[in-house]
Amino acid sequence: TKDWNGIDQVVLRNPRGASVRVSLHGGQVTSWRNDRGEELLFTSSKAIFKPPKAMRGGIPICFPQFGNCGSLQQHGFARNKIWSIDENPPPIHPNDSLGKSFVDLLLKPSDDDLKCWPHCFEFRLRVSLAADGKLTLISRIRNISGKPFHFSFAYHTYLSVSDISEVRIEGLETLDYLDNLCQRKRFTEQGDAITFESEVDRVYLSSPNVIAVLDHERKRTYVIRKEGLPDVVVWNPWEKKAKAMLDFGDDEYKQMLCVDGAIIEKPITLKPGEEWTGRLELGVVPSSFCDEG
Ligand code: BG6
Repeated sequence: TKDWNGIDQVVLRNPRGASVRVSLHGGQVTSWRNDRGEELLFTSSKAIFKPPKAMRGGIPICFPQFGNCGSLQQHGFARNKIWSIDENPPPIHPNDSLGKSFVDLLLKPSDDDLKCWPHCFEFRLRVSLAADGKLTLISRIRNISGKPFHFSFAYHTYLSVSDISEVRIEGLETLDYLDNLCQRKRFTEQGDAITFESEVDRVYLSSPNVIAVLDHERKRTYVIRKEGLPDVVVWNPWEKKAKAMLDFGDDEYKQMLCVDGAIIEKPITLKPGEEWTGRLELGVVPSSFCDEG
């Protein structure tokens, strides 16, 4: 299918009616719906679906740089590029194939990209939807140049929540984090679970591979499983920053929370011929199920 600007989008559906929509602009997942048709990712009502900027919502890919610490544009160029579809992708691993539909998108650097980041790579993004509705993103980045390069990376995941003040994250307690609101100073998380009452912009370091985001009001828990992604970005712009963003509604900070599987503090170094894999799996379970454990 096409989006508003004629850019191709791929829609994956499972037999129960869940769906995932991926745009070739940015290789960005723009929608993920459960089998009741409920949208699980946040998209701003003011989002601009037009290159060269990433649409505000869904899951933009931050590569080869996260944030603005580096020589590149904020969050790197991958989210602003037009990706291509691999019509003959390598088969899905037999152990992993059960009822899955998937698409492989590819990104190779353009001449412009090479001017600002002179490293030849191939980026394969596999987006898959399982029979049980889980969404998996697997990024494979290969160095096809003659010298090593470094990068940081994030799946900038905009979760849709009912009311940010009713949400908590479990799995990050007691971890160290870098606070983007304090010149990336390092702190240690003290609380039991992370809750929200003001702007938050942090990179939690060396986190466990499973994180839960509990939405009390909707009785819904997002379960985030990740591999190769030690850090977790937690971001909510809150009122003042929300008002300053052109492509974001003034009150929309209440309905979203970014929780990103990422690798930021210790960037990856890839030698010629080497490949890195970062995997993110998103699932949703009823909250009561999680609370019992
Ligand atoms: C977050 C960063 O991940 O992304 C924030 O930690 C940033 O500092 C936010 O404001 C949004 O970035 P952008 O470039 O999509 O507006």
